[in-house]
Amino acid sequence: SKKVVILISGRGSNMEAIVRCAQREKWPAQIAAVISNRPDAAGLHFAQREGIQTAVVDHKAFEGREPFDAALMQAIDAFDPDVVVLAGFMRILTTEFTAHYAGRLVNIHPSLLPSFPGLHTHQRALEMGCKLAGATVHLVTADLDHGPILAQALVPVLPDDDEARLSARVLALEHQMYPRAVRWLLEDQLQIDGLVVRHRTGESQLFV
Ligand code: GAR
Repeated sequence: SKKVVILISGRGSNMEAIVRCAQREKWPAQIAAVISNRPDAAGLHFAQREGIQTAVVDHKAFEGREPFDAALMQAIDAFDPDVVVLAGFMRILTTEFTAHYAGRLVNIHPSLLPSFPGLHTHQRALEMGCKLAGATVHLVTADLDHGPILAQALVPVLPDDDEARLSARVLALEHQMYPRAVRWLLEDQLQIDGLVVRHRTGESQLFV
């Protein structure tokens, strides 16, 4: 069966949603490991309680991105994954890293890409007066936050929103969308044509 490695930096609620969905739906795939760049990432406790192997590759122990990414690749490849999932993993990756996992490295980003790549997406959407916000699951390429879009989640921005309220509304859909998209990738359900990704059987890639 196929193997998934999930990378986290903190809370790990998207990782948790993927693990729970895989259990509930009895995926013919195994969450082989959860790896964090932060030793104190809260999500590591959940993974350990679920009996999932965990590892820490602390970026602070390395001088620069290249040696960190090389160590991270070694830790990941020890589990021989078919898909590598970035779930709130807050490090920028080198082109060596993204090339090594081309086509099998996926990320979730809390905005409607290509709007608001980078950090503080919800705050920026509020400051821009956006009436819609959301999140995007995409393949990771060398072009930061601009890889082929696998799925998007759409939520309204409400008049009384602050960053906490908006991010919570988006996160609830992230938890629906990310397990679906990972399963599509594992089952080879996606047809990728440059930046344009279509589901082979026409299943909706929009979550509302
Ligand atoms: C999620 O909202 C995810 O979209 C975002 O961080 C949060 C992680 O939450 N990712 C990024 O900002 C990537 N640059 P989680 O640790 O509970 O899954």
